[in-house]
Amino acid sequence: MEVMVLKTYEEMSKAAAAVIAKVLNSKPNAVLGMATGSTPLGVYKELVRMHKAGGLDFAQVTTFNLDEYVGLPTTNEQSYHYFMHENFFKHVNISPRNIHIPSGTTSNYRSFCDWYEKRIKECGGIDVQILGIGSDGHIAFNEPGSSLSSRTRLKTLARATIEDNARFFERKEDVPIYAITMGVGTILEARTLVLVANSAKKAEAVAQMIEGPVTSMITASALQLHPHAKVFVDEPAAGKLKMREYYDWVMKKKPGAPQT
Ligand code: PGA
Repeated sequence: MEVMVLKTYEEMSKAAAAVIAKVLNSKPNAVLGMATGSTPLGVYKELVRMHKAGGLDFAQVTTFNLDEYVGLPTTNEQSYHYFMHENFFKHVNISPRNIHIPSGTTSNYRSFCDWYEKRIKECGGIDVQILGIGSDGHIAFNEPGSSLSSRTRLKTLARATIEDNARFFERKEDVPIYAITMGVGTILEARTLVLVANSAKKAEAVAQMIEGPVTSMITASALQLHPHAKVFVDEPAAGKLKMREYYDWVMKKKPGAPQT
C-alpha cells in the first residue's frame, strides 16, 4: 500500500486526481470506479478543472459507481444518482450511456446486482476505483462484518453510518436503511485503488485500515491485500499513524527510485 500524507484537503484531492488523470491519458477508454460522499468532492472538482482547462477527455470513459441508497428515486437530491450528476457528470463530456450507478428502485435487487457484476466484466473490469472510508472503516457500504470476498448486493446500513449520513437529510428517520453496494471482492478486482480520507474524524479508521490487521470488521483493511492500493490522506486524518515517518521518507525518496 502506498500511503501519501498531504498538508491540506486541496493537496490531497489534487494528488489523487493526478493518478486518475494519468490513467485516462494513457487509456482514453478507461473504466473508472466512482465514489460518493463529501471526501471525493475535491477530486471531482480537480478532474472537472483539468477537463475544462486542459481537455482531460471523458468521451470514451465508462464509469461504475460503488453504491446507491435503496428507495430513493434518481431525482431525490440525496440519491447518489443526483449527487454524481450534479458534482461530476454534468461538468464533463462523458456519454450518459457509459454511466453505471446501482439502481435503488429496481423491482428485483438480486438480478440487478448480478447484472451489475456482469456488466463490469463486459466492460473489461475497473481500471481505477476511487474510494472514501467511513468512520466505522467501511468502503462503499461494506459495513463491519461484510465478507472480504463479497460481491454487489443489498446491504443493511450500520447505525453509525446512518448517524454519519443524517447530516444530509432533513430528519434522521429519512436516511435509508438499505443500500446496494459493490462488495469488497468486487472492489479488490479493480486494477488500481485510490482511497481519499480527510479530517481527524477519520484518523482512527485510517490507522486501522493501514496498520491494523486485515479484518472484515474494518473492510477498508482489505486494501492491504491489493497490489496497487494508493491512500491519500490529509494531516488530521494521518494523526494516528504509527509509521508516519516512514511514509514521508518513502514519498520524499520516490523521485530518485530506479525506474522500472
Ligand atoms: P464521507 O463518506 O466522504 O462523506 O465522509 C465516506 C464514506 O462513508 O465512504
